Amino acid sequence: MTYRVETYEKTFAGHEPFIAQHRSSGFGILPASVQLEMALLGVAQRRAFAPLELVDVAFVRPFTVADDERVTGRLDVTFAERTRFELSAVTPDGRKAVSTGTGGPLPADARPPAAWEVTCPVPVPPERIYRGWAEAGLTYGPDFHTVRRLSVGDGTAEASLATVAQPVPWYSHPLLVDGVFQVVSCALQDLADGDAPGPMLPIGVARLALYANLSALTTGVTVRVRRTAVQDAWSVADAVLLDPAGQVVAELTGVRMRRLPAHRSAAAPGLLTRIEWTPADAPAPRRPATGTWVVLHDGGPDAAGAATVRALRADGARVVEVLPEGPAPATGADRRVMPRPDEAAFQRLWEEIGAPVEGVVHLWNTGPARPDQAELAAGLYACLAALKTLGQRQRSGRFLVATERAQPVAAGDAPEPARAALWGLVRTAAIEYPGLRPRLVDLDPASADALVAELGGDGPVEVGYRAGVRHEPVRVPLRASDSGRPPVRRDGRYLILGGHGGLGLAVARRLAGDGAGLVALVSRSGGTGADADALAGIESYGCRIASFAADVAAPGALTGVVAEIRQRFGDLHGVVHAAGALRDGLLRGTTAEDVAQVLRPKVDGLHELAAAVAGTDLDFAVLFASVSGTFGNLGQGGYAAANTYLDAYAHARGAPWTSVDWGLWGEVGMGTAVAEQLRRRGVRPLGTVEALDALMTVLRDDVRQVVIAHPDAPAGAPAAPATGTTPASTPAASPAPVPPATAPAAAASGPSPAGDVDAGRTEDGLAEFLAERLGIDGFDRTAPLTDYGINSIMSVELAEELSRRWRVTLPATLFLEYG
Ligand SMILES: NC(=O)c1ccc[n+]([C@@H]2O[C@H](COP(=O)([O-])OP(=O)(O)OC[C@H]3O[C@@H](n4cnc5c(N)ncnc54)[C@H](OP(=O)(O)O)[C@@H]3O)[C@@H](O)[C@H]2O)c1
Repeated sequence: MTYRVETYEKTFAGHEPFIAQHRSSGFGILPASVQLEMALLGVAQRRAFAPLELVDVAFVRPFTVADDERVTGRLDVTFAERTRFELSAVTPDGRKAVSTGTGGPLPADARPPAAWEVTCPVPVPPERIYRGWAEAGLTYGPDFHTVRRLSVGDGTAEASLATVAQPVPWYSHPLLVDGVFQVVSCALQDLADGDAPGPMLPIGVARLALYANLSALTTGVTVRVRRTAVQDAWSVADAVLLDPAGQVVAELTGVRMRRLPAHRSAAAPGLLTRIEWTPADAPAPRRPATGTWVVLHDGGPDAAGAATVRALRADGARVVEVLPEGPAPATGADRRVMPRPDEAAFQRLWEEIGAPVEGVVHLWNTGPARPDQAELAAGLYACLAALKTLGQRQRSGRFLVATERAQPVAAGDAPEPARAALWGLVRTAAIEYPGLRPRLVDLDPASADALVAELGGDGPVEVGYRAGVRHEPVRVPLRASDSGRPPVRRDGRYLILGGHGGLGLAVARRLAGDGAGLVALVSRSGGTGADADALAGIESYGCRIASFAADVAAPGALTGVVAEIRQRFGDLHGVVHAAGALRDGLLRGTTAEDVAQVLRPKVDGLHELAAAVAGTDLDFAVLFASVSGTFGNLGQGGYAAANTYLDAYAHARGAPWTSVDWGLWGEVGMGTAVAEQLRRRGVRPLGTVEALDALMTVLRDDVRQVVIAHPDAPAGAPAAPATGTTPASTPAASPAPVPPATAPAAAASGPSPAGDVDAGRTEDGLAEFLAERLGIDGFDRTAPLTDYGINSIMSVELAEELSRRWRVTLPATLFLEYG
C-alpha cells in the first residue's frame, strides 16, 4: 500500500537567530524545539491549531550549521495509520536523518492532566547555569535565556519562563519548549550542591501532548520536571508546562537527555609541553682514557668512529674495534667482525676481551641511512644485547651511543625513526643500568669530531651536535596556536587503530560528540568484549560505528580496511593510531623477541597505516606515543623504543602527522591498574576529559610532537618523575645494584643487621619488612617476589622505604632484579 507523503523544505543559514543563538562546539545547532515545531506543523498539515501529540520522537543526530553555511532541512510526513515524520539534513554527502517520530491530533475528549507538584528547595541563579553551559561550550543567545527563576531538588526542578522575543504564530513556541529542555537538564544533574551544570542534549521524547496554542504565552509560564530514570548513557524525566493560570498547556513524558562532553576552549595550563634542543656549554675537559674500550663502528677512515679510536689510543687506552662486516681479522688483533650482533656474539666478545671494559662507544647508527631492519638490527637490538650481556659481567663502566640524524636537534631536521628507536631504549638503560652510565649523542656529518669531547663521561644523558654546536633537550611549555579550524568535521569520517581499547573508545566518543559522522574502529578482536556503554555513548551522538577485526601489522590488512571504508562511506578525514601492547620488564630480562612484539603494532602498524592512507588528504594523523619514550621508563625499554620511533616519524614526515607523548591516563586504558600507585608517588594521571581537551587543542594547531602529561611532582614530593604507564625511577645514587644480602652494610637502626657478614639477619629483616609492606602474615622466602604482585612501581617504593629505614642507598630496580 502506498501512503500520501508531503515534503517540506527549509534552508537554514548559520546567521539566523535560531541557529546563531544556539551553539555547541563552534557550530550552530537547530534546536530540538524547532524540530518539534516543524513536525507539529507537518503533522497538522499547517491547519489552524488543534490539540496535538507527537509520539516516539527520536533526535538521531544534531542538525549543525557552520557560520558561513546554509543547510537544507527536509521534512517528510507520511500519512499512514499513524502519521510519521522524518526531518533530515540535506548535505553534499546525501540525506541524513535528524529526527523521527509519529503524531496526530489528540482525541476530542483528551483533557490536560492535573498539574503535579515537585519539591525543589534549592534556588539556583539562572545566570549560573547559562554561564556554566557557555564555559563548557554550549552557548545560548539572549532569545534563549528564558529561565527566569529556578529551583532544584533531588531529580526535580521548577522554573518560571519568560521570553522577550516578538510573538509569532507558533504551535508550540520553540523558545519556551527549549526552556523546558533546559530545565529538564537542570533536574537531571546534581546542581543542589553548587556544581556547575554540564551541557546536555535531548535525544528523545516519548510523548509531547500540546493542549493549547503556546504562541501567545510570553511570561508567567511555569515548568515542573521530575526525573524518572537514570541510564548509563542518558537520563529520563517528565515535564509539564503551566500557563499563568496554573493549567497544564503542554506535557512532555519520557524526555531523554544525554550529557555532552565539556569542551574547554584550551588544554589545562601546564599540560602541553614540547622538547626543544637548546645550545649548551661545551663539555668539561676530559681526563685521558684508560683501560679497555670497545668501539663499534663501520671502520670508515673519516667517520666519528675512526676519530674516536684515534683519540682513545692516543690517550693510551686499549681499543677493541668491532666492525659489522669485513674480512676476518688476524687472531689476537684488536679488531673484530660481528655480522650478527646478538647476545651470544656479545658474550663471546666480552669473554675474549677478558678484562673489565672501561667504556663502550657504539656508532653503528651513523653514516648513510639504511633500511629500517638493518638500522634496528645494528642499533636497537645490538645495544640491547650489548647492555644485557655487559650488565651481567660488570656493574660500572661507560656506554656511549652516538647516532647521526636520530633526533630533531635543529629546525628542519628529518630524523631517522629506526635510529630514534635506539634513543628510547638507551634512555631506559640510563635508569636501569646507572652504573654503566648510558649516554646518547646525536651528530651531524659536520660534527664528527665532537664525539671525542664526550668520551670523558659524566655529562647529561642526551646531547646533540649540529655544525659543531652542542645542544641539550629541554622540556618547555607548548603555546598552542589556534588555526581557527574545528579539528572535527561535521559528519567527518575517522579511523582509529586500537579503537576498541580504552583510549581509542574515549577518542571516538569525543570525535562523535564534536560532530563526526563515522568512527571506524580497528583491533584484532574487532570489538568483541568492547565496553558496550562506550559504544552506545558514541552512537547516541548519531555517529555510526564501523568495527573491523584486523591486525594492523599484517601486510595489506589496513589497506583492505581503508578501501572498504572508502567504498562504503567515503574518504577519511583523519586517523588516530592508538594500537599498542605492553611487554614490560627490566632490560636484563628482555629478549629481542619481546622488543619486536612491542614494535609490531606501533611501528609495523604505522607503516601499514601510512600505505593505506597514501594519497588521502587527511586533516590529521595522530600517533599515540608515550612519555616512556621521551624520558625512558623503568621496565619499558622496548616500549620506549617503539614510541620514540613514532615521534621521529612525525618529525620526518611532517603534516598531517603528529606524535602525542601521553602521560598515564588514570580512568581508561592500559595504565589504570597502576594509576593509584602512581598517585601515591606524586604522579597525577590524566583525566579523560582533560586529556581529550588537550588533544583537541593540539589538533587545532600544527605541531609534530607534543608531550601531554601533568608536570612532574614538585620538589619535596615523593620522587616520581614518571608520567608513563609505569614510573621512571630516579636512578639510585648508588652506581650499581647492590644485592640485598650485602646492602645494609651501613645500617644503623631497624631490623637489619649491623654488618655485611650477617646475611641471615639481613634476610630476616627483609622478610619482616616485605611481610609488613605487603600486608601478609608469613613471607615465603623461596617464592619469586613477582608472586606477591611486585611490579616496577612497587619496587621503586619498597627500595626507597628500605633505603630510608636502613640508611643505605638501594637501587630502584632492587626488588625486580631479585624477584
Ligand atoms: N593508557 C595510557 O595511559 C597510555 C599512556 C601513554 C601511551 N598510551 C598509548 O595509547 C595507545 C592506546 O592505549 P590504551 O591505554 O587504550 O591501551 P588498550 O586499552 O590496551 O588498547 C590497545 C588497543 O590496541 C589494540 N591492538 C593491539 N595490538 C594490535 C594489533 N596488532 N592490531 C590491531 N589492534 C591492536 C587492542 O585490541 P586487540 O588486542 O583486540 O587487538 C586494543 O584495542 C597505545 O598505543 C599506548 O601505548 C597509552
